[in-house]
Amino acid sequence: MNKKLLGEINKQIGLEFYSQHFYLSMAAYSAANDLPGFESWFLAQGQEEDFHAMRFYRYLNQRDEKVVITGFEDPPTEFSSVLDAFEKGLAHEKTVTDRINYLMSIAHEEKDYAAVNFLNWYVDEQVEEEDTFSTMIGKVKMVGDGMGLYELDKEAAARTFVPPAAE
Ligand SMILES: [Fe+2]
Repeated sequence: MNKKLLGEINKQIGLEFYSQHFYLSMAAYSAANDLPGFESWFLAQGQEEDFHAMRFYRYLNQRDEKVVITGFEDPPTEFSSVLDAFEKGLAHEKTVTDRINYLMSIAHEEKDYAAVNFLNWYVDEQVEEEDTFSTMIGKVKMVGDGMGLYELDKEAAARTFVPPAAE
């Protein structure tokens, strides 16, 4: 695999693990604010990020390349509201989408069509991620505080992470 692409995929593994911590931090915020439904929603989102990271991990191994695990910065730990958390989540997902598009542009430049196919999954996934967050933002805005948020918290509790079937 081209060195630049390899380096950027390794960087992406770090970013996906960072994303996991980012959402774990939102789960912790929700738990601390007596919103167990949003807590489990963000925990499920964190598991999804772990899956994204490990999918890259397995792919590099498959391509006979070395995975390099690095550290990353602390995620934000304070949020002013659940809405603030979801808005920060959407902004974060947009930066992840830009990163995936960047990886895809290198794969195209290098005519690494196997990597193009592999990355396509993430292109589709990011459309879903952004949609998931903007839907939650819309719902949180719709219900406001108090009883509405209490009900939405119960709805959020239903989210679970089901890993996609093995490839
Ligand atoms: Fe991700």
